[in-house]
Amino acid sequence: MQFVDLAKQLETIRGTVEERIKAVLDHGNFILGPEIKELENKLAAFAGVKHCVTCSSGTDALLLPLMAYNVGPGHAIFTTPFTFIATAEVVSLLGATPVYVDIDPDTFNMDPAKLRQAIQDIKNNNKPTLQFPDGLIPKGIIAVDLFGLPADYDAINAIARKHDLFVIEDAAQSFGGMYKGKMAGNLSDVAATSFFPAKPLGCYGDGGAVLTNNDSLADVVESLRVHGKGQHKYDNIRIGINGRLDTIQAAILLAKLEIFGQEIEKRQEVAARYSEGLKNAVKVPHVPPGYRSAWAQYSIISERKKGLMARLQNAGIPTAVYYPQPLHLQTAFSYLGYKPESMPVSEKVSGRIFSLPMHPYLDEADQQRIMHTILQV
Ligand SMILES: Cc1ncc(COP(=O)(O)O)c(C=O)c1O
Repeated sequence: MQFVDLAKQLETIRGTVEERIKAVLDHGNFILGPEIKELENKLAAFAGVKHCVTCSSGTDALLLPLMAYNVGPGHAIFTTPFTFIATAEVVSLLGATPVYVDIDPDTFNMDPAKLRQAIQDIKNNNKPTLQFPDGLIPKGIIAVDLFGLPADYDAINAIARKHDLFVIEDAAQSFGGMYKGKMAGNLSDVAATSFFPAKPLGCYGDGGAVLTNNDSLADVVESLRVHGKGQHKYDNIRIGINGRLDTIQAAILLAKLEIFGQEIEKRQEVAARYSEGLKNAVKVPHVPPGYRSAWAQYSIISERKKGLMARLQNAGIPTAVYYPQPLHLQTAFSYLGYKPESMPVSEKVSGRIFSLPMHPYLDEADQQRIMHTILQV
């Protein structure tokens, strides 16, 4: 049994994938070929946004808007410690300071009440144990849609407006999810998504996209993606990066996008079966009314995590822990001075959480076996 079964997916779309790749080999435009614009138009339409700029990874999709907002030293960017390192790494890379905001224990996403407090603390220069530079200026927020469930954007966007901050939606895991009638990728000023192979919409390498309704931001991101280009690629008007998506990856994504809507529906069925079967044995994911998760992961909480994971492993069932160590306690961020117990919810959750196999092709018999193994423990 696979944790994410890409081979089964490929069985169903091999013909289209091969045709799409062959078309790229035939026309030979490997860099920014016609598939790139076609994909960008389709992704923008899918998410309901005006602009999509594809790029080389989900990490660059976070980096590019931060660069477009001129984030740098002296700026505070508020984000959650219960995420993949890329979310905060890009902030540090630009010389700005990631300021961690603890999560809601039910959704695992940024807790808006704690965000309010964290902004106030930075404005008051109140940072007792932290090694932050003095006089940090609150500049923006990166909210993460963890495991595919959107964060609470009504609350987060309202706080951002009050303090004149931008909001980036880290939709690396939530593309295909929804929040109050809007698609993930369209829930704040700008969104970043990832096409890492195991993501709900994944390519066969690295890839990502920036999504926004802001015309000028999209222009700047597009320029930054190609070394800060102006009128053409040898007219360089700002410092940028080489952050393009490969044409071949775009071709693969176009093939996968055709079945993506159905796959998201299948993920809902798999998740519903897990939740129904496991709700009396472990803490199953909470999806608030009006939200749809893209179910990048199906993660459960149990005091008996170790025993459960061992039993599942013995039964040949793969599991994974996202995330064993919250970012504020990672060595890479030790320079910020966060201490254990400073983010109690993230720390408690990371000790008790683990994820079960989740993909649209998980058959019912396998799923029954997974649930049966858990219920036996
Ligand atoms: C929440 C989150 N943000 C950002 C990223 C970075 O994406 P990529 O691996 O495509 O750079 C990931 C990928 O794992 C992620 O899960």
